[in-house]
Amino acid sequence: MTLTPELDPFKLAKTLSGKHLIGGAFVPAKSGKTFPVDNPATLAEIGTAAFGTKADVDAAVAAAKAAQKEWAKLSARSRGKLVAECGRVLSAHVEELGRLVALETGKALRTESRVEAGVLADMFVFFGGLGSELKGETIPFNPDMLTVTVREPVGVVACIIPWNVPLLLMAMKAAAALVAGNAVVVKSAEEAPLTVLRVAEIMNTVLPHGVFNILSGFGPECGAPLVEHPDVGKVSFTGSVDTGRIVYKAAAEKLIPVTLELGGKSPMIVCADADMDQAVAGALAGMRFTRQGQSCTASSRIFVHESIHDEFVAKVKAKVDAMVMGDPLDEKTDIGTIISDGQFERVNSYIKLGEETKGATKHVCSAMPKDAKLTNGRFVQPVIFTGVTNADRICREEIFGPVCAVIKWSDYESVINQANDSEYGLAASIWTRDIKIAMDATRRLEAGFVQVNQNLVVQPGLSYGGVKTSGLGREASLESMLEHFTHKKTIIFNMR
Ligand code: NAI
Ligand code: MG
Repeated sequence: MTLTPELDPFKLAKTLSGKHLIGGAFVPAKSGKTFPVDNPATLAEIGTAAFGTKADVDAAVAAAKAAQKEWAKLSARSRGKLVAECGRVLSAHVEELGRLVALETGKALRTESRVEAGVLADMFVFFGGLGSELKGETIPFNPDMLTVTVREPVGVVACIIPWNVPLLLMAMKAAAALVAGNAVVVKSAEEAPLTVLRVAEIMNTVLPHGVFNILSGFGPECGAPLVEHPDVGKVSFTGSVDTGRIVYKAAAEKLIPVTLELGGKSPMIVCADADMDQAVAGALAGMRFTRQGQSCTASSRIFVHESIHDEFVAKVKAKVDAMVMGDPLDEKTDIGTIISDGQFERVNSYIKLGEETKGATKHVCSAMPKDAKLTNGRFVQPVIFTGVTNADRICREEIFGPVCAVIKWSDYESVINQANDSEYGLAASIWTRDIKIAMDATRRLEAGFVQVNQNLVVQPGLSYGGVKTSGLGREASLESMLEHFTHKKTIIFNMR
């Protein structure tokens, strides 16, 4: 069966309303309850989502557990081929998925949402090719004994995802888990439940039913019982540090492994000899201005050498000023909206905190959209704060919005120490033409993902994850599939 792409996201949102996808079928919540999903650009209701509770969790985990047994019996390459086939089928739906994710998250179609839908498909193709890498070892334990290790699936894996890049984050968890022989239950983010449901529907045209299930719902009512379910053997979570701690504690009760990706306050260090235009472009990309800064990797602390500070700030501001804020579905739009009321208030409260910070200067960029139908939308003009120090709260706490702090520096040792003076350690970058400085900084920066003269986003094949409170474990790579979605079994044949 093939599905025809539905390019009207409003229509698709209605069709997908009020459902989970369990055992290959759309089903309403057992309680019959739903909750509204809005368009962050207008606040109009676009549809509803099923309100998942423990009863739905039980049904989804039971479907996954039943399907996993047969799934694990397939050869690893056969599973990989099916997962890669999901990627190929999804790539025919990029436009449809891009439009729907733009509608429900407020991320601009051209700069963000269509791109994300493309990476989603690519992630499945990438992991699909890794089936035959699920290898074990032979160990020279004893000449009379054949000693080998094999990789076995965990069983049922729970993937709990946030709203900022729901397709990409779901793909890097689910594709790896599936190829490794697990069945998956995703708990989508309450702010963005619809596009991932369509992805699941498309995947279920390829995969055996039950290996990939998706529940909508909130954290305490749906996420918590999923983590606590006795048949869930692994949790992969992306979200806030506070919720990450709750998930980790619940997993500890059951003694099951977790992967946690929990955000950051990533430093970008610009040296006096940096290529100015490259660094300016890197700040724009790193800060994810086109995603309203709603990124765990956002380069939200930009340390700029004092000799080029003013020029750098002026150039970044000019570039952000030239960006168009508007309807996420409009091809002219560069910058869309903040996802939810809660995040909108949070971001604005940090802007206020920045204004009240001693020595701070606020540079407001771009312009609010003029379109009257967007007046209720959750638009926030990007803000650059200068004159702040690394000790200020806006430089220490994750804002998760279009707000960045530029901090002046003069001494290299001091800037490395400041960059590392953070509870987080997800990403970092250094911008210089001096290879010795670049090498030194990459060794010393405390982060899981360090780049020189660029600020790329997550790439299939490159291990991604943090140190310190940014999380545990790695995703998006071969290592993530082997280390985080399998158990290693040691087997000894005595041949004496
Ligand atoms: P959150 O961590 O509360 O939500 C993430 C996911 O966890 C959602 O699917 C949510 O329903 C689920 N969840 C919540 N409570 C749970 C529980 N007790 N058990 C199991 N699952 C649970 O993040 P939220 O509220 O969306 O955003 C708050 C802040 O978190 C943001 O301002 C940002 O700083 C950070 N964040 C970081 C992200 C990242 O990529 N690392 C993504 C989203 C948010
Ligand atoms: Mg929350």
